[in-house]
Amino acid sequence: MSSTFGTLFRISTFGESHCAGVGVIVDGYPPGMSLTEADVQTQLDRRRPGQSTLTTDRDEADKVSILSGVENGKTLGTPIAMFVANRDQRPADYKSMRKIPRPSHADYTYQMKYGIRASSGGGRSSARETIGRVAAGALAEKYLTEAFGVEIVAWVDSVGDIAAPMVDVQHIRREQVDSSTVRCPDPDTADLMMTRIAAVKDENDSIGGVVTCVCRNLPTGWGEPVFDKCEAKLAQAMLSIPATKGFEIGSGFAGTMLRGSEHNDPFVQKDARLGTVTNYSGGVQGGITNGEPIIFRVAFKPPATIGKAQQTADFEGQDSLLEAKGRHDPCVVPRAVPIVEAMAALVLADLALRQKARAASQT
Ligand SMILES: Cc1cc2nc3c(=O)[nH]c(=O)nc-3n(C[C@H](O)[C@H](O)[C@H](O)COP(=O)(O)O)c2cc1C
Repeated sequence: MSSTFGTLFRISTFGESHCAGVGVIVDGYPPGMSLTEADVQTQLDRRRPGQSTLTTDRDEADKVSILSGVENGKTLGTPIAMFVANRDQRPADYKSMRKIPRPSHADYTYQMKYGIRASSGGGRSSARETIGRVAAGALAEKYLTEAFGVEIVAWVDSVGDIAAPMVDVQHIRREQVDSSTVRCPDPDTADLMMTRIAAVKDENDSIGGVVTCVCRNLPTGWGEPVFDKCEAKLAQAMLSIPATKGFEIGSGFAGTMLRGSEHNDPFVQKDARLGTVTNYSGGVQGGITNGEPIIFRVAFKPPATIGKAQQTADFEGQDSLLEAKGRHDPCVVPRAVPIVEAMAALVLADLALRQKARAASQT
C-alpha cells in the first residue's frame, strides 16, 4: 500500500500536482475530539508555495476542506477526508521536460516503473503530495498535544555550508522559528541563509540544507521493537519526504567519533521518572522512547529542477541541453519544516495508539 502510512493511526494520501486537487483520508482518529478546518490550515499555510521570495512563485492558497468524519466540530471516529484544490498549474512550463527527463528528478524512474506518467508537474513525486501529510499531521499533533502535552518543533539548521549555532531544544518554539522566512531561529544565521538562497536563485540554481526537529514531553514506552522501533519509523517517515537524502537521530554520525565512556547517557532521577544526564541517544533506546526529547536531523538535497542549462540525455538517449522552465523552489528546507513536523506527529500518534492498545490488552 504505497500511499498508505501507519498502523492504527493510518493515512492515505492522493492526488497529482496538476490534477483537480490533493488530499488525505485519515483512519483511526479518536471520536469526540473537537476539530475544525482552522486546526489544519495553520500548518498548511506554513507549507504552501508562494509564501516568500525564497520559495517557488507558484501561488496556491491551499485552503483545506474537511469532507467527512466531523460533525458540529466533533470527530465521529469515522474516516476523515480532507481536500485541497490545485489552482495555479502551468502545464506549458513542462513542455521541454516531456522529452527530456529532469536529472535527479523522478521523471525517468516513474516512466520506467509505470510505463506512463503525469504529463505535467511532478505527479505524485511533487511536493504537492505532502499537503495530505501536513493536513493529517495537524490532526495527529492535536491528539498528541491534548492527550499527552507533546510538543514538536522543527527548524532550518543549515543551508549549504551555513549552519546555525546550537539551539536550546528544551525551549525552542515555532514563533522563534517563524521569525524569519527561512525558518532559522538564529537571526544572524537566518540573514546569511536568505542572502545565499537569493544568490543561488539569481543564478538559476538550487541549494540543499538540513532540518532539525525536537519532540518534547513524550512518555516512556512508545515504539514497537523490533521492526517498528521508534527511530526506524521516524527514519522511514522522513526519508519518504521528497528530496531527503539523510536521517540521523541523537548523536548520529558524529557519535562514531566518541568513546562509549563519553557517549553513554548516565541515568539520574528527574521528578517522578528516571531521566538521563545527556541525550546522545536522542530520546530513544532499544527502539522505545525513554522520556527524553527525541532529536533528529533530516538532510534535503538541492532541488533538481533548475533553470541553469544542464547537459543530459533525452528519453531516446540523444545528448540534450535542458534549461528547465517553471517556478521551482531554489531551496526546499523553509517549506520542509512543517512537513517534517507532520511526519513526526504521524509516527508518534500511531505509536501512542499502539502502546495504548497494548496496555489495554495487558490489563
Ligand atoms: C517542500 C518541497 C518543495 C519541493 N520543490 C521542488 C521544486 O520546486 N522543484 C524540484 O525539482 N523539486 C522539488 N522538490 C523535490 C522533488 O519533489 C523531489 O526531488 C523529486 O520528487 C525526486 O524525488 P527524490 O529527490 O526524493 O528522489 C521539493 C521537495 C519538497 C519537500
